[in-house]
Formats: sequence, C-alpha cells, structure tokens
Amino acid sequence: MDKQLNLKNIALIGRTFDEYYRMFDLGNVPLKNETILDVASGVSSFCAEANAKGYDVTASDKIYKSGASDIGQKCARDLDTVIKQLPDIADLYVWDYFKDIRSLKAQRERAYKLFVQDFKKHGQERYVPVEYPITDFVDGQFTISLVSHFLFLYEDRLDYDFHKRTILELLRITSKEIRIFPIVNLKRQRSSLVESLMNDEYFEVSSISIKNVGYEFMKNGNEMLVIKIRR
Ligand SMILES: C[S@@+](CC[C@H](N)C(=O)[O-])C[C@H]1O[C@@H](n2cnc3c(N)ncnc32)[C@H](O)[C@@H]1O
Repeated sequence: MDKQLNLKNIALIGRTFDEYYRMFDLGNVPLKNETILDVASGVSSFCAEANAKGYDVTASDKIYKSGASDIGQKCARDLDTVIKQLPDIADLYVWDYFKDIRSLKAQRERAYKLFVQDFKKHGQERYVPVEYPITDFVDGQFTISLVSHFLFLYEDRLDYDFHKRTILELLRITSKEIRIFPIVNLKRQRSSLVESLMNDEYFEVSSISIKNVGYEFMKNGNEMLVIKIRR
C-alpha cells in the first residue's frame, strides 16, 4: 500500500496566517478591502491573526459548537497522532518551510493556542458554528471564501455530491472568489473531483482555474483552485 498519513477522522489541525498567505497567494489581494470567510477553519490562527492586523475575517467550522477546552484537548490529541506518524513518512513532505518535525509541531501549537485565546474572547460572533454544506450566511455576505485542507484532500470520505453542494453554497454567500488549497488527496495525487468540478455544467457561471502557489509542504500540494464568480 502507498504510504500516507493515516487518519481516523478529518484532523483538527490548524495553520497560521503566514501559511494561509502563501497557500492562497494573498499577496495579490487588497486584504483591507475584503470580507473574508475561512471555511472549515478549525483551530487555524488565520482568523485571529488577520483580525489583529485589521482585516475582516470570519471563521466557520462545525467544531465551534463545542467549548474552548474540549476543542483544545481534541486538537492536542490530533496533533499528537499526526506528529507520531511523521518520522516514518517524512519523505512525503518538503522540509523547507518547516525545517524539521520539531519546528512543525511548534508552529502548529502556536496556531492552536492563538486560536483558543481568540475563540475564548470573541466566541461565536467571530467563530461561527457551521456544518457544511449548509450555512445561515446571507447571499454575498463575503467577498472571498478560503478553503484550506478540507475539500479535495479528504475525497476518501467527502464525496462529489458533498463537494458540489458545499461549493454551490459558497457561490451563494461569496461575491467575488473562492480559493481552495490544496487540490491533492491524502495520497498526494490531484483529486479526481477537481476535473469533475471543472466539467460540471452547474459551475459554468464561474471561471475555474488552477494556480501554482509558493507553498508546498505535502509533496505535489502546491496548487490552488480559484473560482471567480461572474453574476
Ligand atoms: C484539517 S482541518 C483544517 C483547518 C484549517 N482550515 C487549516 O487549514 O488550518 C479540517 C477542518 O474541517 C472541519 N470539518 C470537517 N467536516 C466539516 C463540515 N461538514 N462542516 C464544517 N467543518 C467541517 C473539521 O472540524 C476541521 O476543523
């Protein structure tokens, strides 16, 4: 069997603002003018760090129904599960952004601790409990939606119908652009759902393209899908 990270459930692991900035190529986005939704944001510190910089970011995840200490504990467990597996599968990753497993662990801990602090302070006002594909957000509430390590990556447990319904919901609540990273599955192969989506007549009102970005941790995971919305 091909080597890969072995996860029982979708992992509760969080990335930082700097990682989001690189994964989603945000250097070309006037962040001050945007209203951003972080989709399935989990324990990422993107929302906390972005708001501290004066940007308007809302986080959304099904985990936000739980309290901060339950989330913190689950996240510490998931991080432990991932970190323990890494020595045997280290060759599946590119070690330049993180120089070794220790620095990866430190960065992930920093992310979830920043998240927990901010979640305790701002609660469900900033961290909205959402179980995709359904949300209560209003039409066009956000200008940009960012989806990190949720769609495509977990294609073994989230089928095409789930992807389609989630993206249709994001098209309803987003006015300009949806960006999804990465577009590979856990085996580091481009998800077959990317092609299904690009050929699906439901999405003909939007332009869908693939863009290389300056971030690669999982080998081959250096592309994002950009859906530009034309109304
Ligand atoms: C690997 S984490 C990614 C977190 C963050 N986007 C990042 O990259 O740091 C995946 C997240 O998806 C969330 N999730 C899984 N299924 C979901 C659903 N149907 N609706 C909302 N969130 C979901 C999990 O709770 C988890 O926080």
